[in-house]
Amino acid sequence: MGIESRYIWMDGKLVPFDDAKVHVLSHTLHYGLGVFEGIRSYKQPDGAGGVFKLDEHIRRLTDSAKMCRMPLQYTRDDIRAACLQTLAANEMPEAYIRPIIYFGMGKMGLGARDNPVHLSIAVWDWGRYLGEEGIRNGIRVQTSTFTRHHVNSNLQRAKVIGHYVNSILARYEAIENGYDEAVMLDGAGYVAEGTGENLFVARDGVVKTPPVVNILGGITRRTAIDILRHEGHTVHEMHFGRDALYVADEVFLTGTAAEVTPVREVDRREVGTPGPLTRQVQEIYGQGVRGGVDWMKGYISHF
Ligand SMILES: Cc1ncc(COP(=O)(O)O)c(C=O)c1O
Repeated sequence: MGIESRYIWMDGKLVPFDDAKVHVLSHTLHYGLGVFEGIRSYKQPDGAGGVFKLDEHIRRLTDSAKMCRMPLQYTRDDIRAACLQTLAANEMPEAYIRPIIYFGMGKMGLGARDNPVHLSIAVWDWGRYLGEEGIRNGIRVQTSTFTRHHVNSNLQRAKVIGHYVNSILARYEAIENGYDEAVMLDGAGYVAEGTGENLFVARDGVVKTPPVVNILGGITRRTAIDILRHEGHTVHEMHFGRDALYVADEVFLTGTAAEVTPVREVDRREVGTPGPLTRQVQEIYGQGVRGGVDWMKGYISHF
């Protein structure tokens, strides 16, 4: 299946898929100021759907809008209800959910302030973002020649549409060079994140992940840290260089789309087959989002 569904929610109404259109002079289309989310629902033991960490995603969405000075006419509860309504209308227990807030048509130019703010929510069937083989055996990554935005050149913890030009260029480059994904360094040269994933590295049983300074504060990253600590492992949120990846016992990426994806090679240095920590996080995450882990059940919104 592709990105088709029956309905897309647009400004309060469910609209048939083919009618969900925006005007070519929509402000966000020209300048990239808009915000979005990526959320997943999973089939639960009763066969119905459940969205993992819906409130956390909606909070990040409204925080992103606030940081970008986009006034919203919907509360977090309204957006939550709209996501669940869209899933139910499309009868898709397993889906990727994409709320997007964008400026519509009105004035042009960078100083335009009073264009209408729109909210749309689409859902589609999205399998393994980095491939079934990648999830099973690990992917090959390359350190990008593109640098992650400097902490003061963007609002890195906001999920802003325009930020993703940087990610797309890095991903194109990595794939054209024969890799599966790029790892981006920040302006100081420290490891930041993947193009759409956070990164973890393990050596001698100790896990490190970059702090939320100039990376997206990933919701899966938080879940992975909680899983690791829950299982008694030590996790440090700290800066490190690419050399830490070259001598790692394990490297893995986390993201709502990518879930928990092992890395088997970095810049032609072998990391190896997915190790025990990666497997443990992967398994508990996979069970937890499907209602199989007690302490994670409270994060599921059923519909
Ligand atoms: C740049 C970037 N980093 C990290 C992530 C992972 O975040 P999350 O786990 O909230 O999906 C994403 C995905 O949204 C992303 O786009």
